[in-house]
Amino acid sequence: MVTRRTSLLLPFCFITICGILSQIVADDIPSGQIGYGYTVTTVNTDPTGKSLTADLKLINSSDVYGPDIPLLTLTASFETKDRLRVRITDAKNQRWELPQEVIPRKSSSQSHPFFFPQDTQNSTEHTITHPSSSLVFTLHSTTPFGFTVTRKYSKDIVFNTIPDNTNPETFLVFKDQYLQLSSSLPANRSSLFGIGEHTKKSFKIQPNQVLTLWNEDVGSNNVDMNTYGAHPFYLDVRNTTSPDGIFKNGTTHGVLLLNSNGMDVNYTGDRITYKVIGGIFDLYFFAGSAPESVLDQYTEFIGRPAPMPYWSFGFHQCRYGYKDVNDLTEVVANYSKSNIPLEVMWTDIDYMEAYKDFTLDPVNFPQDKMKTFVDTLHKNGQKYVVIVDPGISTNSTYETFNRGLKADIYIKRNGTNYLGKVWPGEVYFPDFINPNSQKWWTEEIKIFKDILDYDGLWLDMNEIASFMTSSSDPNSTLDNPPYKIHSTGGQRPIIERTVPPTAYHYGNITEYDAHNLFGFYESKATNKALVDLFGKRPFILSRSTFVGSGKYTAHWTGDNSASFNDLAYSIPTILSFGLFGVPMVGADICGFIGSTNEELCQRWIQLGAFYPFSRDHSDKNSNRQELYLWDSVAASARKVLGLRYRLLPHFYTQMYQSNQKGTPIARPLFFSFPEDTNTYEISSQFLIGRGVLVSPVVLPGAVTVDAYFPKGNWFDLFNLTNSVVAETGKYITLDAPADHINVHLGEGNILPLQGEAMTTEAARKTPFELLVAFGSNGKSYGRVYLDDGESLNLRDKGQWTLVEFYGELQNNTVSVTSNVTNGKFAVDQKWIIEKVTFLGIPKSGNSSQFDIKEVANLTQLIGEQFKIEKP
Ligand code: GLC
Repeated sequence: MVTRRTSLLLPFCFITICGILSQIVADDIPSGQIGYGYTVTTVNTDPTGKSLTADLKLINSSDVYGPDIPLLTLTASFETKDRLRVRITDAKNQRWELPQEVIPRKSSSQSHPFFFPQDTQNSTEHTITHPSSSLVFTLHSTTPFGFTVTRKYSKDIVFNTIPDNTNPETFLVFKDQYLQLSSSLPANRSSLFGIGEHTKKSFKIQPNQVLTLWNEDVGSNNVDMNTYGAHPFYLDVRNTTSPDGIFKNGTTHGVLLLNSNGMDVNYTGDRITYKVIGGIFDLYFFAGSAPESVLDQYTEFIGRPAPMPYWSFGFHQCRYGYKDVNDLTEVVANYSKSNIPLEVMWTDIDYMEAYKDFTLDPVNFPQDKMKTFVDTLHKNGQKYVVIVDPGISTNSTYETFNRGLKADIYIKRNGTNYLGKVWPGEVYFPDFINPNSQKWWTEEIKIFKDILDYDGLWLDMNEIASFMTSSSDPNSTLDNPPYKIHSTGGQRPIIERTVPPTAYHYGNITEYDAHNLFGFYESKATNKALVDLFGKRPFILSRSTFVGSGKYTAHWTGDNSASFNDLAYSIPTILSFGLFGVPMVGADICGFIGSTNEELCQRWIQLGAFYPFSRDHSDKNSNRQELYLWDSVAASARKVLGLRYRLLPHFYTQMYQSNQKGTPIARPLFFSFPEDTNTYEISSQFLIGRGVLVSPVVLPGAVTVDAYFPKGNWFDLFNLTNSVVAETGKYITLDAPADHINVHLGEGNILPLQGEAMTTEAARKTPFELLVAFGSNGKSYGRVYLDDGESLNLRDKGQWTLVEFYGELQNNTVSVTSNVTNGKFAVDQKWIIEKVTFLGIPKSGNSSQFDIKEVANLTQLIGEQFKIEKP
């Protein structure tokens, strides 16, 4: 509903620190169709040319979704050469913005200390950039105004909000409870990835869908629905070449809308439109231009992924419905009897007394027996993780509850603690935004650790999930906002099955604004508690996440179903979390809801053995699904977990890489092959690190798999003599009988392996082997990061070693040399390389067949510089 109004722009004065007055701009609105939106009145650019502010004035208003905010301020600034921030907010009134403790950021005044006004009368474009940036920001004083972000050299427009006056979707709208911003996209050459959490069939975001962000307890078996987390971040991989090579396939940038409110993101292929129900527009552009550099720049800003303990890369077993401590003991014993490695045993809410956190059911999980059980696990080098839910039972004899009452840390509504309903019945929810909740939470975690010596905590139901819906407050528009986001496909109003939006947190922060942050704050508080109490690297698994959660927690994809579809969907979700800076991620292996079957469970462990986080978990209403229950599944488990445990040094090094640079552990193929546009379409294969390609069967009954191989030679990790030669990137049909998954090492990579074992601790004691796979240029590279696997930080106090390996094939002689940083730690551990296997040595006269050369029986210390050579 647009009403035309002649605009006489108010004379506006802007006084800079330099005391210069700026002149007013009064563009007449041209005749013709006028869009709803804002126009630029004043622009001030800082002398370095790296930032500007602009005053924006409403030109046409509409009362749909509430009154417009008449005056806005836009600030654009290059915070680093690779990070551009564009912030648009109410010029007069402070609005809800993400607290600094979630993502620390420059205040807007910090980012533009001095300004010179620009004469906007003669220029309709105002441009800023950073001298070394590849991006340029341009403010267009069109009517309505818009801005563009462009690549400096190629002139490719990466974001363009200049409205199309014929399309209301394209207008900038800024109301109290409805904000809209839209950018056009070059549909034929832009591929978007990210924006979640949703269960997607396709990793690449498909056009013509509404991606809603509102954390919900909705099973991850619901395709395209918003589920547990909120990550308004995408990667845009562009597919274009220019003759000068400046513009090439795979040129990538990232875009974050840093906003915690509920939103719909409409993606049509040629346009992305944000429709947000609160907060401000705080956009961050990450220049890239490689996918890996976007992740580096993104996690530099939101926080690097947390270091994970070495043991967390072992195999985990869980189930909702283990009935008592004997049940747990039996499961652990059966794994051992079946020779299947089990690193971590888990217990779901079954262990609690009446579902009260930090209590043990005295009948089925009595403390003395549980203590013996956990001590035995520890003696065997195994670990134990328990679940904790946020709903605190209001039973008046429950000490945790009472201490929380005393500390006054529960979420409130209408002046009293808000009463919800979850597993224990009536509950209060702790307000982790309240600084006083930390002390209480840390104390509860400590008291329970004294009862039971657990190794990690599992945070569930923290969207927050509630089993009831409160009635909405008729005096507020928060519970029932004018614009309805399409949560759960439009079925669930935002007040349903959670804490109502009119409830509030410490500092009068409404649930409306902070809903998507609960899991983040809970993970942060839990991480701090574990660090403060035990001084060791924590392991936390959280269902709900927000931007930056990776600093504190791992994630699993929630309640999937025991179906081949869900097995396949796990790959796009896991890859998306890699982009969100939460690289330690997995899906419930063999499926959570419904009973699995032998074939599905066999295929799922084959895939799940290569998830960064590898856990079998099932619902209490389904049949049991421990891997030893079927002979075929057990045999596959031994085979694939055998390879996983050999790959532990590689997994761990990828975790190091994530922690240092944000690079995901499980990566889409385009991370290593950005110029191969076929890789953008792949949803059922992934890489671990740079070069280990996993190509699982995702269809029932299949005994072959059509796997895409980017250009190069690929070596079967289950049979090194078996290689795939892809002269160009192509699909190849591979045998995949029931007992086999295809896992290949790509040319140019050096892979550090250790031996198979039943625990990660035992595997770490075995000698190393190096697989050196040569590329056509006769070179290869790899690295391994080593430390004690549990100290708080990586690269801690010199107690670590990084070894880089360089392979070379020259005149039929193969060699590998090392470059060691901080070798003493590894030397002290006496880790040796026992064997080097050189792959990809062309057989004379045949470019598609290879020789293998081995150097065995070595006792080379991995922490010492070396050269190993074979003619
Ligand atoms: C939720 C979790 C699931 C857990 C169950 C019982 O559904 O997602 O993993 O088993 O609650 O605690």
